[in-house]
Order: sequence, then C-alpha cells, then structure tokens
Amino acid sequence: MDYSQRRKPYILGKILVAFILIVFCIITLKQSPTHRSSSTSAFSRHEPGVTHVLVTGGAGYIGSHATLRLLKDSYRVTIVDNLSRGNMGAVKVLQKQFPEPGRLQFIYADLGDAQAVKQIFAENAFDAVMHFAAVAYVGESTLEPLRYYHNITANTLIVLEAMAANNVKTLIYSSTCATYGEPEKMPITEKTPQHPINPYGKAKKMAEDIILDFSKKSDMAVMILRYFNVIGSDPEGRLGEAPRPELREHGRISGACFDAASGIISGLKVKGKDYPTTDGTCVRDYIDVTDLVDAHVKALAKAEPKKVGIYNVGTGKGRSVNEFVKACKKATGVDIKVEYLDRRPGDYAEVYSDPSKINRELNWTAQYTDLEKSLRIAWQWQKNHRNGYGQSLLTAS
Ligand SMILES: NC(=O)c1ccc[n+]([C@@H]2O[C@H](COP(=O)([O-])OP(=O)(O)OC[C@H]3O[C@@H](n4cnc5c(N)ncnc54)[C@H](O)[C@@H]3O)[C@@H](O)[C@H]2O)c1
Ligand SMILES: *[C@@H]1O[C@H](CO)[C@@H](O)[C@H](O)[C@H]1NC(C)=O
Ligand SMILES: *[C@@H]1O[C@H](CO)[C@@H](O)[C@H](O)[C@H]1NC(C)=O
Ligand SMILES: *[C@@H]1O[C@H](CO)[C@@H](O)[C@H](O)[C@H]1NC(C)=O
Repeated sequence: MDYSQRRKPYILGKILVAFILIVFCIITLKQSPTHRSSSTSAFSRHEPGVTHVLVTGGAGYIGSHATLRLLKDSYRVTIVDNLSRGNMGAVKVLQKQFPEPGRLQFIYADLGDAQAVKQIFAENAFDAVMHFAAVAYVGESTLEPLRYYHNITANTLIVLEAMAANNVKTLIYSSTCATYGEPEKMPITEKTPQHPINPYGKAKKMAEDIILDFSKKSDMAVMILRYFNVIGSDPEGRLGEAPRPELREHGRISGACFDAASGIISGLKVKGKDYPTTDGTCVRDYIDVTDLVDAHVKALAKAEPKKVGIYNVGTGKGRSVNEFVKACKKATGVDIKVEYLDRRPGDYAEVYSDPSKINRELNWTAQYTDLEKSLRIAWQWQKNHRNGYGQSLLTAS
C-alpha cells in the first residue's frame, strides 16, 4: 500500500465537497423567498389539469418519499423546509430525478416565521398542502415540550392561516397514533377516544383540533392521517431515513437496529420483556413508508370540499419487538446482540390499528406486510449511505 499516492485524490475530494457545499448554499439562498422573483414561474399560476402540492418538511424522511411519489404521479411540488432535521441531499436526489422546469421547487424557510410563510403563499399557487414538517420524537417531547408545541401546534396554525388567506382548498395532515395515548381496547379505531400522554401526542392532537374547528366554518377539504410506526424506504434505493446523529438517542427501533448491525452501537437494548404480550416484549404496528405515501395520494384524490376524513394508517397487525429484531437480523445478516433491560416508563404494551375505515373509504391496503422485506430495502440504503446523505454527496460527485 502506498499512502502518499492515495492522499492527493482524498484532498482533492475534500475540496470538491467544499466547493459543492458552497454552491448549495448559494442556490439555497437564491431560492429563499426574499431572493426569488418567481412571479412568472409555473409555480405561481394555477394550471388546469396540474395539481400543485406544497409539501412542508419535504426534506425529511416521510416528506421526501411523498414528494417522490407525487412527482412520479405528475403532480407539481413545492417543498418548504428549513433543514433543521431534513437533508438537502434528499432534495438533490429529487431534483435530479425530476429536473424539468415547473416540476419541483425547494424553498428554504422556517414555518415558524409567519411573515415568510405568508409571502410563500402569496407568491405560489398551491392547490393542496401536505403538512409533514414537525419535530417527532416522543422522548424529546417530554424533555423539551415547548419545542413541540411551537413546531407542531403553533406552526400548523400559521400554515392554516396562510391557506385560508389564499383560499388553498385541500389539507392532508400528518398525525399520529400517539394522539390516542393508552387506549383500553385494541385495535385502535378512529373512534377510540384520544387521551395523549406526552407533549408530542398532545401537540398533534391540538393541531388536529384547530384544523377540525376551522374546517367546520370553511370549504376546505381536510384529511387527517394518523400514522402508526413508520419503517422502510424507497424500493428503488433513491431515498432513505437519515436522522441527525444527535437524535439517535431518541431514535426509533429500525434506526437502532441498523446502527447495531453496522457496529455504530454495540447492540440493541430492549426495554421490558415482562409485558402481557405473546413473548413479553411490546407490540407495535409497523407501516412501510411506501404504503403510507400511497395513503396520502389516495387521500388527496378523495378529498372533498367541506368534508373531513380521519384515518388510521397501519397494517392492522401487531408485531412484537422480538419479532422485529428477528426480522432485522435476517434482513441485515448480522447477529445483533440483544440486551434486555427494565421497562421504560410511558411505554404501553400493545398498539395496533384497525385499518378497515381507510380500506373501505379510500380503497387503501398495506402491501408491505413482510417486516423482513421492508427492513431489507431500508438496510440496502443504509449500507450504501453510511453517512446518510452526506456520503451520497461524495459518491455522486
Ligand atoms: N416517523 C414516524 O414514525 C411518524 C409516525 C407518526 C407521525 N409522523 C409524522 O410524520 C411527519 C414527518 O415525520 P418524519 O419522520 O418524516 O420526520 P423528519 O424529522 O424526517 O421530517 C420533518 C421535516 O420537517 C422539517 N421541519 C421541522 N420543523 C420545521 C420548521 N419549523 N420549518 C420548516 N421545516 C421544518 C425538518 O427539517 C424535516 O425535514 C411528522 O409530522 C411526524 O409527526 C411520523
Ligand atoms: C429552523 O427553524 C427554527 C425555528 O423553528 C430555528 O430556530 C432554526 O435555527 C432553524 N434552523 C435552520 C437550520 O435554519
Ligand atoms: C422549535 O421551537 C423552538 C422554540 O421553542 C426553537 O428553538 C427550535 O429551533 C424550533 N425548531 C426545531 C426544528 O426544533
Ligand atoms: C381498489 O384498488 C385495487 C388495487 O389495489 C383496484 O384493483 C380496484 O379497482 C380498486 N377499486 C376501486 C373501487 O377503485
């Protein structure tokens, strides 16, 4: 091995990355609302036959997958995201897939900035909004409740006000099974009483309430989707889940599984094996992001003025943590070390959905019901993107 010969391209690579990052920043700044002169662009006019969807949080995990599907289905999309938790790399992938003018626009803005949001709505002709942008970790929400009420509840109000002021007709809202709290009866139907037990669930419930009260006095078409535990990624490997490293500690089970499989953490800590379930570990309903996004597109197609549709989006099948770990071991081919700890306060034994309403009314059914398959797809992306979207920047250049 001759190291001196390998050094140079490495440094050149670094310079190239730095250069690309600077170009990113310039493009981003140019596209920020104050720098745009979009009054004549395709995005600023309604066009018959074209539905222009504002995707808030489109640089995030679910929002980026939704954007990919919308673009594939010929929608026009504007992403608004402030990249606080999302990835510019995901937006880049989407822009590369759909480079034609008038297809995809990225606007860097904070939804908490009411003035900026007002301006975005005034300058763009949106037909619908899919509102994904939020902070979304139960544990973090108990530590920093104001962050949750601000970025979920208050920001939803800002988006709704801008929609009303500009007569945007349809809203698809990202809600969660956390709004139900700890129901006494399983499975959870849409009629199950909502008694959220953490700030995340409460902030989402409050946002739902604001939307519902508003919709009673407006023509808006509203769909509220309450997701269960989201996993998986694009089957074609273009997008994945890449949360900030500092959020790992609050992370979700699939992320922890992959981290364990790739040696970033030493193993999995399963909290509680004495729950009253089949194998003693917690039971959850895992919904693949591809199916979830399909539910959004169907909801958008079926949304009707003056009507509200509320739907659980889950498979209807509960899977134990042990089952999940087994599937993860198979999908990754790694014999992940598992350590059993005491129960974590606030975790409930069993949560799974009754998806019959969305089956019936939107003709939606989960297609990805094989945990191992969903995890294999997601693992493929994780393996190819060891540093999330940062790594793909290097390989793409
Ligand atoms: N992942 C799940 O299992 C799950 C389950 C139920 C509900 N949800 C909901 O789905 C939605 C999307 O979740 P996700 O997992 O994709 O999260 P994510 O963190 O990957 O994406 C959220 C995106 O919103 C952006 N954002 C946050 N605050 C913003 C602000 N003030 N201004 C502009 N952009 C902002 C972030 O930068 C990020 O790109 C959230 O509303 C979440 O509550 C997720
Ligand atoms: C995103 O918005 C928040 C306010 O909600 C702000 O505090 C934060 O600095 C912003 N992040 C970036 C990267 O601009
Ligand atoms: C959310 O709100 C808080 C204010 O409570 C802010 O400091 C933070 O940066 C906001 N944004 C995110 C993404 O957390
Ligand atoms: C429901 O969806 C299936 C495909 O998932 C399709 O074959 C069928 O025609 C749809 N039914 C209606 C009534 O749209």
